[in-house]
Amino acid sequence: DRSDAPVIVVLDGPAGTGKSTVSREIATRLGLSFLDTGAMYRAMTYWLLQNGVDVDDAEAVANASAKPVILSGTDADGPTITVDGVDVSGPIRGPEVTAAVSAVSAVPEVRTRLVDLQRGSAAAAPRGIVAEGRDMGTVVFPEADLKVFLTASATTRATRRAAQLGVADPAGVAAILADIERRDAADSGRATSPLAKADDAIEVDTSEMDPEEVIGHILGLVRQRARTV
Ligand code: DC
Repeated sequence: DRSDAPVIVVLDGPAGTGKSTVSREIATRLGLSFLDTGAMYRAMTYWLLQNGVDVDDAEAVANASAKPVILSGTDADGPTITVDGVDVSGPIRGPEVTAAVSAVSAVPEVRTRLVDLQRGSAAAAPRGIVAEGRDMGTVVFPEADLKVFLTASATTRATRRAAQLGVADPAGVAAILADIERRDAADSGRATSPLAKADDAIEVDTSEMDPEEVIGHILGLVRQRARTV
């Protein structure tokens, strides 16, 4: 009987589905903690790059992966991410990290370490947690109360990303689309914990929805599925 256990809501899906915005807003509205697990893979990648580790050398990445102290603050009103005590929330969104993070997140030792931290964050959340990533429903929280898998067409995701970055020219949008397709293939094709929909996850296609519609829809699912939220 898990009736007193903290509530766990997970959202998985590729980049550009609005996952981060939607997850954080749902956590805020439900008074739950929030965990952006992509930020942890980015923080690990940032530390490796800063310390001169060749991110394409899986053995070197594995050997170094125990060294950085990665802490994610799970307050939905102001999530934080630090490495060795330094706030890295800005630099982890930069192009160097974005280009290298797929290779780093494919290394099993990196995943084992970060999954432990992710489960620890959930265990420490007073009321429960909304966790977002790629393998939340399949690997990290198979017992989650609600699993959502967000999708959107690659073109929709590229258009959203371009708007965020202020890119308007067709060549620029095409480059963003190519990068999204490259990361999708890497994240879905890797051997360890690939991006995948859990059998018991509910798929929500956000191509034709704005963020508020997605939030409303998922809050409805939480009310149906999760206990005591
Ligand atoms: O969601 P994001 O773009 O910040 O994620 C960054 C990268 O981390 C992405 O390429 C896939 C990887 N990732 C992962 O492998 N597992 C997770 N749970 C979250 C992110």
